Amino acid sequence: MKRFVVTLACAGLAVAISSVMAQSSSVAEKAQELREMAVNLFQPIPGSVTEVRGQAISQPQITLGKALYFDPRLSRSQTISCNSCHNLGTAGVDNASKSIGHNWQRGDRNSPTVLNAVFNAAQFWDGRAADLKEQAKGPLVNPVEMNSTEELVESTLRSIPGYADMFRQAFPSDPQPVTFDNAARAIEAFETTLITPNSKFDQFLQGSDTAMNAQELQGLSLFMEEGCITCHTGVNLGGQTFFPFGLINKPHPSILPTEDTGRAGVTKQAEDDYFFRVAPLRNIALTAPYFHSGQIWDLSEAVSVMSDAQLGQKLSPEDVGAITSFLGTLTGDQPKVEYPLLPPSSGSTPRPD
Ligand code: HEC
Ligand code: HEC
Repeated sequence: MKRFVVTLACAGLAVAISSVMAQSSSVAEKAQELREMAVNLFQPIPGSVTEVRGQAISQPQITLGKALYFDPRLSRSQTISCNSCHNLGTAGVDNASKSIGHNWQRGDRNSPTVLNAVFNAAQFWDGRAADLKEQAKGPLVNPVEMNSTEELVESTLRSIPGYADMFRQAFPSDPQPVTFDNAARAIEAFETTLITPNSKFDQFLQGSDTAMNAQELQGLSLFMEEGCITCHTGVNLGGQTFFPFGLINKPHPSILPTEDTGRAGVTKQAEDDYFFRVAPLRNIALTAPYFHSGQIWDLSEAVSVMSDAQLGQKLSPEDVGAITSFLGTLTGDQPKVEYPLLPPSSGSTPRPD
């Protein structure tokens, strides 16, 4: 994943788009002309994902990963699961500024959604994990999240008879399948099913002239014309590259706290100061509050912050409203997840602590 230093390169495109909006008469015509440009910048969410990191995903891995995702026994207190902070009933987030973890401690950043995370080129606000398998190991051992250890996760899982069987089916060629690493692989396999196809925007990309209304189309036009697409493109409209938050104007320290330098904390390079991963925008209408600091609750306010901070533009309330409506078309079909029955503990299962 590359770090980009920006020069805005969309001036020509902007002219082309404004003239499209001026000339076109009907909504259907506008839809067709905007689509010609949009399909070069964005891709729809596919119906399914069948492999990850070049490896096929099996149904037993998904079943195991789903149980682990919901199992609070992976945390030291045995009360916190992945689903506590990435609730699949609420678009894979907790809708809190900062998540609450072990012993009611609050973390430093807002929790991003797990939905469609498989399409991001790197995980976390600062991109410090390369993929979902590496990512899943983080919260398990993070002291302010689940506060476990690799050994405690393994001894807990090995003490639960039902899991032995599930790991064997998921990883049939491993002599000792119940490992921390395989637990992370299984969670990753389950996360590949947490995708949201069929949004209005995807229907539009795939040829429907009626999926998006006039205001939503106007918002898409502005999203492209104003230069949001310098950064927010691809299947997730983000998640692929790093840019400074505050490229043109630094947001207020309540939105961009000075102590969190983002990417620079990972690379230890001063030139990466305040670089963050371009946030993916799928299902953004459901995942307030916004930004890594989680201080902005209103999506239209987040749009204004972005246009000022990243583009140096003050947009009119109508334009902000149109872009916000466009962002609403990025809400796709939410995965229907049946709560799993978890295999019971045994006498040797470690007690909650
Ligand atoms: C206590 C709350 C909490 C728990 C429990 C938790 N997470 Fe997270 N998760 C977060 C926060 C906060 C971040 C962002 C941290 C950062 O960027 O530094 C995050 C980031 C992520 C991301 C990255 C998404 C993206 O777009 O970058 C994924 C995927 C994820 N978590 C999955 C999981 C899984 C799987 C588990 C269970 C093993 C889990 N989380 C447990 C709070 C939590
Ligand atoms: C120069 C790159 C760049 C441009 C241009 C840009 N963004 Fe962003 N955007 C980012 C980055 C980086 C973040 C993550 C900020 C953070 O760390 O909280 C982000 C975050 C967001 C968020 C919050 C996402 C969340 O999950 O909290 C929204 C909404 C958003 N951008 C919309 C827009 C819109 C609308 C435009 C055009 C008006 C735009 N962006 C222009 C880079 C950019």
